[in-house]
Amino acid sequence: MAKVRITDTILRDAHQSQAATRMRLDEMLPACEVLDKVGYFSLECWGGATFDSSLRFLNEDPWDRLRALRKALPNTKLQMLLRGQNILGYKHYADDTVDYFVKKSIDNGIDIIRIFDALNDPRNMEVAVKATKQYGGTAELAISYTTSPVHTEEYFVKLAKQFEDMGADIICIKDMANLLLPYPAYSLVKELKKAVKLPIVVHTHNTTGTGAMTLLKAVEAGADVIDTALSPLGGGTAQPVTESMVAALADTEYDTGLDINLLTEAADLLKPAVERLEKENWRDVKRVMSTNVNTLRYQVPGGMLSNLIGQLKQAGKMDKFDEVLEEVPRVRKDFGYPPLVTPTSQIVGTQAVMNVITGERYKMVPNESKGLLRGEYGRLPAPVNPEIQKKILGDEEPLKDRPADHIAPQLDEFRKEIAEFVQQDEDVLSYASFPQVAKKFFENRQARQLKSDPSSFNKENGTMVI
Ligand code: CO
Repeated sequence: MAKVRITDTILRDAHQSQAATRMRLDEMLPACEVLDKVGYFSLECWGGATFDSSLRFLNEDPWDRLRALRKALPNTKLQMLLRGQNILGYKHYADDTVDYFVKKSIDNGIDIIRIFDALNDPRNMEVAVKATKQYGGTAELAISYTTSPVHTEEYFVKLAKQFEDMGADIICIKDMANLLLPYPAYSLVKELKKAVKLPIVVHTHNTTGTGAMTLLKAVEAGADVIDTALSPLGGGTAQPVTESMVAALADTEYDTGLDINLLTEAADLLKPAVERLEKENWRDVKRVMSTNVNTLRYQVPGGMLSNLIGQLKQAGKMDKFDEVLEEVPRVRKDFGYPPLVTPTSQIVGTQAVMNVITGERYKMVPNESKGLLRGEYGRLPAPVNPEIQKKILGDEEPLKDRPADHIAPQLDEFRKEIAEFVQQDEDVLSYASFPQVAKKFFENRQARQLKSDPSSFNKENGTMVI
């Protein structure tokens, strides 16, 4: 009986982290028969940025992709990443949209939904959790890991207990920025195993070169599942490499039981995809595979650092880089220590840049900063600096309740707006997630179908006869 199990991220996070989420379905399918034989805990293959990328860049219906993967991987649990009340987008949706998205994800083949919220506000996750359970899925609730004076081990343990009470089936430590170091990982997993009765999953990246060590210490502390990525896209900015972790754990009490020859076979079948991604410059080997120690120095995620540099270059103020790096933790403290992950990393980063280049702190305040302080993204981990709140919001009272309580049901309206294009129930969810992108995709789809079979087009109402 294997003691440690593996979730492979090769079909989602690995190409999202290394190749701008550009891997296509036709490049995944040749490897599926072998992947299905491996005996993974699950394959993360959908959600995150893959939905947006399929529609926007690959002209692929994400729902078709999911159904095709389901068919090609009959023996493997399929996993997706969901941003709680934000679904796969960047703002809050109404409860009816969240519920329907979860239902359709499960109907089309998803088994495990990893649900997280950028602020770790459980209220932004509860509708997704309830729907996952109701429609027969497994709810994996993820802690967005970060470091700050309030993000103590005690804080994370309390959060995990809350997740357990909400009905979580699995708890995940989601270290999106590679801030979780090996020994804190060991200690945190130990504490979580004591506090909750659920399996613990650890997700990290290898950006700063510590990822594999973090997973090893997490395994020694009792982690049940670790996220890794097959070698063609493993390591670097993605997850530590599957084959390496499997080899490291083999013949120990943590043996994964996976066959390294089968893994190599699957990896070989994915190499043509990676070659194409490199040829077309979606994957810059030098950038994604070099070890970036700046996160260790500044506790600022790699992606956020490159955004800051971009903003400063644009303003012709690269000489202020060190000042901005010092300002980031101050803004974060003023704002109640949000984890630095999309969208809060952009909000804190932009505010820090403005504070420095205008020469006066909070002289210029973007709407997103105001929204964050108003509670529009959820509850901040710690109290906001009252002086700054006064300066930015005046006498306005921040929201105390759940942000989505202020959003009326929206599905009927979406259905009306997109009626002429609908060919499957799921289309309304693509439209709800990315309205302009989905509409353009639908128009292209219609044009393509009309070209290949003009007789199938119903001229009366403009829809396809299917
Ligand atoms: Co990740």
